[in-house]
Amino acid sequence: MSEIRQRQAASAKDNGQKKPKSRSQDRSKPDEERGISVIDVIRLLATFIIVTLGISYYMTNGESVLFGYKPWFSRWPVVKQYMTGPVKLTPAELSHYDGNDESLPIYVAVNGHIFDVSANPGMYGPGGGYHFFAGKDATRAFVTGCFKEDLTADMTGVEEMFMPVEDMDEGLTSGEKKVRREREMRHARAQIEKTVARWEGFFRNSQKYFQVGHVVDSELEKDPEFGNRVLCDGAQKQRPKRSEMAEDS
Ligand code: HEM
Repeated sequence: MSEIRQRQAASAKDNGQKKPKSRSQDRSKPDEERGISVIDVIRLLATFIIVTLGISYYMTNGESVLFGYKPWFSRWPVVKQYMTGPVKLTPAELSHYDGNDESLPIYVAVNGHIFDVSANPGMYGPGGGYHFFAGKDATRAFVTGCFKEDLTADMTGVEEMFMPVEDMDEGLTSGEKKVRREREMRHARAQIEKTVARWEGFFRNSQKYFQVGHVVDSELEKDPEFGNRVLCDGAQKQRPKRSEMAEDS
C-alpha cells in the first residue's frame, strides 16, 4: 500500500515538471524561437508606411505623400467651408463672385450648385479663358457651348440640339412622326442630364475646386427671355442629320 502511495507521489511530481512553461518563463528564449510578436508586426507596418510616403514625396517632387491624392480634410479652404456651412446665394449675389473683387472667392455654378474655383484664377479670373462662367449659373452654355448667347440656367429648347434635323422624306404618317419625336425628345432630355451631370461631376470631383452651396431664388422667371430661348447657331450646327442617321443604322 505504501509502495503505491510513493509511486503516485512520484508520478505527480513528474507531471508537474512536464508542465509547459508560461509566456513569462519563455522570455528567456532567443527571438527566433519565440516567433513574430505584435510589436514586430507594428514595426514592419510602420516601416512600410514611412517608406511608401517617402517614395510618394520623392516621385511627386515634394508635393504629396499620398501620390497626389488630397482628401477633403487635408484642404484648408474645404475644411473652413465645411465648418461655416453651405452658402445660399441669389443670382444677383452670385454675380459679385466673378473675380473682379479680389477680397471675394471666385464662384462658378452648374445646375444650381455653386463651386469655389478660386484655385484657378488664370482660367476663371478677369482675363481668363473661361472668365465668362464666373459669378453665374450658365448651365445652358455648358451644354450648348455657346459662350456668348447662353450664359443662363434657362434650358428651354436645348433638347433640339440632340434631335435629328429632318432633311429627308420618309413617307411616315404624322402620327408615326409624333411618336418618334416623343421618343427622341426623351433621349434628348437624357443627353442633357448626362452632359450637365458630367460638368457638375467635373467641378465636384476636382482636386482644385469644391462645392460651397446652392443658388436660391433663381429669378429665372423675371428674365424676359425665359421660356422663349431658341437653340443658338453653334448648337444648331452640331445637330445630327436624319439622312446620316439612316445611313449609319
Ligand atoms: C460645350 C463646350 C465646352 C465647354 C462647356 C467647355 C468648358 C471648359 C471649362 C469649364 C474649362 C476649364 C476646366 C478647368 O477648370 O480646369 C475648359 C478648359 C479648356 N477647354 Fe473647354 N469647353 C468646351 C469646349 C471646348 C472646345 C470646343 C475646345 C477646343 C477648341 C476647348 C478647349 C479647352 C482648353 C484648351 C481648355 C484648357 C485651358 C487651359 O488649361 O488653359 N473647350 N473648358
